[in-house]
Amino acid sequence: MSQPNLGNVTAIIGTQWGDEGKGKLVDILAEQYDWIVRATGGANAGHTIYVNEKKFVFHQVPSGALQLNTKMIIGNGCVINLPSLADEIQLLTNEGISLAGRFFISDRAHLVCDYHKKIDVLQEEMKGGKKIGTTGRGIGPAYSDKINRMGLRVGELINWEKFEAHYRSNLAHIQKMYPALEHNAEEELLAFKQHREELLPYITDTVTLLHAQTLAGKKILLEGANATMLDVDYGTYPFVTSSNASIGGIITGTGIPPRNIDSIIGILKAYTTRVGAGPFPSELDNETGEYLRTKGGEFGSTTGRPRRCGWMDTVVARYAVMINGLTHINLTKLDVLTGLETIRIVTGYKVNGKTLESFPSDLDQLYRENGMELEYLDMPGWTEPLDTCASFEELPANAQSYVKKLEEIIGLPMTFIGVGYNRSQLITK
Ligand code: GDP
Ligand code: IMO
Ligand code: MG
Repeated sequence: MSQPNLGNVTAIIGTQWGDEGKGKLVDILAEQYDWIVRATGGANAGHTIYVNEKKFVFHQVPSGALQLNTKMIIGNGCVINLPSLADEIQLLTNEGISLAGRFFISDRAHLVCDYHKKIDVLQEEMKGGKKIGTTGRGIGPAYSDKINRMGLRVGELINWEKFEAHYRSNLAHIQKMYPALEHNAEEELLAFKQHREELLPYITDTVTLLHAQTLAGKKILLEGANATMLDVDYGTYPFVTSSNASIGGIITGTGIPPRNIDSIIGILKAYTTRVGAGPFPSELDNETGEYLRTKGGEFGSTTGRPRRCGWMDTVVARYAVMINGLTHINLTKLDVLTGLETIRIVTGYKVNGKTLESFPSDLDQLYRENGMELEYLDMPGWTEPLDTCASFEELPANAQSYVKKLEEIIGLPMTFIGVGYNRSQLITK
């Protein structure tokens, strides 16, 4: 099978509401790249990789870690929680995977403190019935501090006295805003001081480093986290994360100029899932939804929450192609659809009889009680398992037709097709 020409710099982006299977493709492609770079998000992400039935879940460390010749960067657009990063590094070390000399953390990335996590929980409580259903990892409050120009940056850890003074003044400010916040600053500072010793060697000006690597012709894989529909600008706001999870965030979160990116692969699950609250037009609140959840193992990699499941929504997919300028698609988890008699594809949204041009910003338009109707195309299913199919031609005829129909509606080739969670279960078309 000939490999697609992806060029030197490739971005991988979630096209739906997350958990499309980004980690698996990053792990597989990592072998062909010199650098794997995370650009946005933090420990809200959970990227799962299986190697010989052993499961690894990456939250902050880029998913290239298992390919030992690959170097990794946590970019400036990320928010980092030091204790959980140290835990992740320890887990890898326990498996004999060393990051020494091949791992770099941007000095411009921001820190997530324990008080950010507490504020995340407090804010959710204050929202009552309008909870976002965050991962509770302090992501929103940490990005709020960044945008509010009071965040703590990783590079500040180099000068401990200055860092400590900044930390204390921030906390004093935050405690005025949240009088109910209970926080032990001495305990957290002590933990930071310990982790700092371990992490100092990794702190780097990654922006300059990446530019030099690009000029040297090195191959760079940019690992998106979260997903387009969770993007703070383009997603289902306010039911989104607090960063730009689409292509814009890849650029601001690494310092790589847009014109240097050669290919942008969208990861598209063969059906749709969402964790947390917010509108989900193609959701199946019935036994088919339950079938997808059980068969697809749809439980959050970060929080273990059951994922909401629904049909493939090509309004969402086309929107993701448009926003990100996708050049290729990796259709994932096609194997999970085996056994369904009919497979539905959402092709359009109609509100009060009028078809919408694209995904709307007004969330009220996305609820059936407000006159919203879905337009469907029904495709015949198949019964054969797909897990040993090694080429497109080996897929059952109806699975091929499903893929071709998606290509026709979405307007892009499904260059990679996932037929199982193992590294080998990826068809290149
Ligand atoms: P990510 O956050 O986008 O990296 O995705 P997650 O790791 O949160 O969730 C995707 C899940 O689907 C993981 O458990 C993967 O091992 C699994 N997975 C990925 N691709 C496939 C596939 O083609 N088939 C099946 N059955 N599972 C897959
Ligand atoms: P990966 O990279 C699925 C969702 C949360 C919640 C909303 C806001 O594994 O695909 P946050 O903690 O970010 O403030 O939560 O965003 N969310 C994700 N859902 N996969 C993710 O990442 C997610 N990252 C954030 O469930 O609805
Ligand atoms: Mg995930």
